[in-house]
Amino acid sequence: AELAVISAKVIEWQRSHGRHQLPWQQDVTPYKVLVSELMLQQTQVATVIPYFNRWMQVFPNAEALAAAAEDEVMRLWQGLGYYARARNLQKAARYIAELGEFPATLDALLQVPGVGRYTAGAIMSFAYQQYGPIVDGNVRRLYCRLFALDGIPNTPALEKQLWAKAELLTPNHQQAHADCRSFAQGLLDLGATVCKPRQPLCELCPLAAHCQALAQNRIASLPNAKPK
Ligand code: ADE
Repeated sequence: AELAVISAKVIEWQRSHGRHQLPWQQDVTPYKVLVSELMLQQTQVATVIPYFNRWMQVFPNAEALAAAAEDEVMRLWQGLGYYARARNLQKAARYIAELGEFPATLDALLQVPGVGRYTAGAIMSFAYQQYGPIVDGNVRRLYCRLFALDGIPNTPALEKQLWAKAELLTPNHQQAHADCRSFAQGLLDLGATVCKPRQPLCELCPLAAHCQALAQNRIASLPNAKPK
C-alpha cells in the first residue's frame, strides 16, 4: 500500500539525512525521552541541549527527580520558561518512582501525570522501538500538506483527522523491518528541516511524489491559517 511506501521513505531519509547526534538520542532511556520531549514542547532544540545535559547530570533517572527538592528542580529549569512543565515533570517522576517501573505501553504511559498522546507516542517510538503515533506542530504541518487536510487548525475535527492519519502511517513493531524510532525521528526532522512553515524544500523531500498539497499546488496555503 502507498502508506507503507511513505513510511519506508521516511525511515530511509532519516537514516541518511536526519539528526542522530542529539543528546537524548544517545543511550536512550524512557526517562531521557520524557525529559527531552517535555523540554522541547515549547522550546527550540538548540536551547534545550545544554539544559538537558545539566538536568541529566543532576537527575539521571526518575528516582533522582522524584526525591529532589522543588527549588533545585526550578533552579535547573530556570530560563526554559513555562515553569508548569518542570512541576509536571517532577509529578511524573514521582508517579513512576512510586510505580516501581517505567510504564511501557501507550495506555500505561497515558496514566502518567503530564503525559499526553504525543509524549506517550514519542516514548513508545524512541525508547521502546514500538508502535507510537505522534502528532506535534511539525508533524501537523507535514500531514496537512501530505494529505491535503484543509480543516481549521486547533479544531477537534482536524485533530481527529491528523491522529487517524498518524495511526495509519506509523509503523507497527510487529511488522518486519519496522524501525519505529527512525520513523518518528524522521517525521520530526523532515518537519523541522524540509517541510518548513515558509518556503519548504520540496525538491529535497523524499515524500514529494506522494504529497497531495504539492500535486494540487497548495503548498503555500496548507496548513490553513489559524482563525483570529
Ligand atoms: N522536537 C520534538 N521532539 C524532538 C526530537 N526527539 N528530536 C528533535 N526535535 C524534536
